[in-house]
Amino acid sequence: MKVSVIGAGNVGATTVQRLVELDIADVVMLDIVEGLPQGKALDISQAAPMMGYNVDVTGSNDYADISDSDIVVITAGIARKPGMDRSDLLKTNIKITQDVCDNTMNYSPEAIIMTVTNPLDIITYAAIQSTQLERGRVFGMSGLLDSGRFASFIAQEINCSVKDINAMVLGGHGDSMVPLPGHTTVSGIPLTSLMDEDAINRIIKRTVNAGAEIVGHLKTGSAFYAPSAAIACMTEAILKDTKRIVPASVQLDGEYGLKDICLGVPVKLGKKGAEEIIELELTEEEMKALHNSANAVSMGISSI
Ligand code: LAC
Repeated sequence: MKVSVIGAGNVGATTVQRLVELDIADVVMLDIVEGLPQGKALDISQAAPMMGYNVDVTGSNDYADISDSDIVVITAGIARKPGMDRSDLLKTNIKITQDVCDNTMNYSPEAIIMTVTNPLDIITYAAIQSTQLERGRVFGMSGLLDSGRFASFIAQEINCSVKDINAMVLGGHGDSMVPLPGHTTVSGIPLTSLMDEDAINRIIKRTVNAGAEIVGHLKTGSAFYAPSAAIACMTEAILKDTKRIVPASVQLDGEYGLKDICLGVPVKLGKKGAEEIIELELTEEEMKALHNSANAVSMGISSI
């Protein structure tokens, strides 16, 4: 099996490291910057004797090298620099995404495409428009990262193993995301019976701001360890056809009363990609929050 990761920045390179450590697919790391993917790939391949993986890792600037990938992960894009506003970021990253999509369709038309570049839901929508692939074949990594953050904060708060927590966060990957305490459990025990409302609300707020909290510390960049972990989990579920159910950004076609938008909802991951969308029963308040989130994403989509 073969996975290509487009972008050799922090998210891309850490994803490649996590993927080769899973030892399930050869990995190509592609970037337009000459030498960057080659150098990082060489370094990662030299860790193999110590870490014990047997897959190949290749760095390249040539899209021909992504030929016949099972999955293409798009992490390429620019981060905001001083003097730029969000729409500058959006315009540039959409252009980059379209270029990556064109090359993917040229060299790897059968691949499943996972988008990671921000603003995630809008970029995912643009990738679907640009490839014209069926919706299950193109989707964004977002909700699993946000759910992972929610789970890690819950584990710290109630002092339990993070392994026992099953957290769910829906909606857009941004300030309007919708963490669902009512669909979050600790070893099957509803979160709402283990934590009081104030504590839950405090943790929800921290989850929504988790990406910004990290940017605040790092100052020159954003998170990549947890994002790459979420990408690796989703990639593994697809390659091994495990049918894991995780939230991801997919195009909705009437589900949750929404259409013509990409938004984070639970999906079943298997060898065909996001094979099924799971519709949760939401309270009126949760549904309102999800539609609020959809409005925020829709505004971004109409701006493109
Ligand atoms: C985050 C950014 C990278 O959530 O989307 O950390």
